[in-house]
Amino acid sequence: MRRFRHFIIVAVLVALSTVGLRALFSVILALPRASSAEAIPIDALFNGHYWMIAFLFSLIMVMMLYALFVFRRPADDDSDGPYIHGNTVLEIGWTIVPTVVVLGFGVWGAITLNDITSPKPNEMTVNVTGQQWVWSFAYPEQGDFASSELVLPVDRTIVLKMTAEDVIHSFWVPEFRVKQDLVPGRETTLRITPTEAGEFALRCAEICGLNHTQMVATVRVLDAAGFQAWVDAENAAPAFADMTPEDRGAFWHSAEGLGCVACHSLDGAPGVGPTWQGLYGRQEELEDGGTVTVDDPYITTSIIDPNAQITAGYLPNLMPQNYADQIAALEQEIQAAEGVDIDIIADLIAFIKTLE
Ligand code: CUA
Repeated sequence: MRRFRHFIIVAVLVALSTVGLRALFSVILALPRASSAEAIPIDALFNGHYWMIAFLFSLIMVMMLYALFVFRRPADDDSDGPYIHGNTVLEIGWTIVPTVVVLGFGVWGAITLNDITSPKPNEMTVNVTGQQWVWSFAYPEQGDFASSELVLPVDRTIVLKMTAEDVIHSFWVPEFRVKQDLVPGRETTLRITPTEAGEFALRCAEICGLNHTQMVATVRVLDAAGFQAWVDAENAAPAFADMTPEDRGAFWHSAEGLGCVACHSLDGAPGVGPTWQGLYGRQEELEDGGTVTVDDPYITTSIIDPNAQITAGYLPNLMPQNYADQIAALEQEIQAAEGVDIDIIADLIAFIKTLE
């Protein structure tokens, strides 16, 4: 009967400790707001794990501390303890119970993963491109325009078809819970069903070089009418043929264009590459000790053969070395779509000249 009393006390203490620890986890391990349909089953999994962790920690700690204090050796007791050689029931129990629990969590996780990654009715595709260190988004079902922010309609499943230009990046919006890598040369997909309008931050969750921590983009979730209005405004953007070279240059600099913004600021702020503010006509010192005046040929060389002349204080091999191909492909695309010959490098030079 006395032994039975110990079991009841320990059981009550374990229960109290489990509830208390679970409450503590809600504070110190709090998850951000859940803003997607996918977050609900994922948070249920988190909840299940938190309860299990709180229970197992309590079970071990309470038993150990209880034994330590309650069964402490009296000061005058020099006798040996009872001799125990194993306990078959206990050993079978602590093998089978954890096995069943771990398998259960595994099955639960697999069902959840299948649930959140399987195709849903009425999906909308958005193409996502990651490059050092900018995000860009294209909307093939809304006129194939590009955007530097991710704008999504609420309550509709979005399929993100993602690829990387250079190294592995990772798409992560904590409020949506789901996360997926972008891998060069391969398409990965991720499904998100935003459940509330609002503004969120997309972060890159894979170390991808010098400016990894700056690789962020805004995600805006709008109601259906707001999303349509945004799509209409994007589609009303002028044709390249109708823009001035300076305006086109500003566009190429942005994340929607060639992504120069990732490394070259326009306001003198330091970056991975030299700022474009006051760049044109400036005397630049080179790594090899020479100097050069920033003019049309220098800028052209810097774009298509970036390692030819490295400005003092900057590193080689950071600027993508395929801009000549990228620019030629873009110029061909515009020629095919609008029937005009655009000189993208001339546009960029025209734009840089405005940044005195
Ligand atoms: Cu891209 Cu880190």
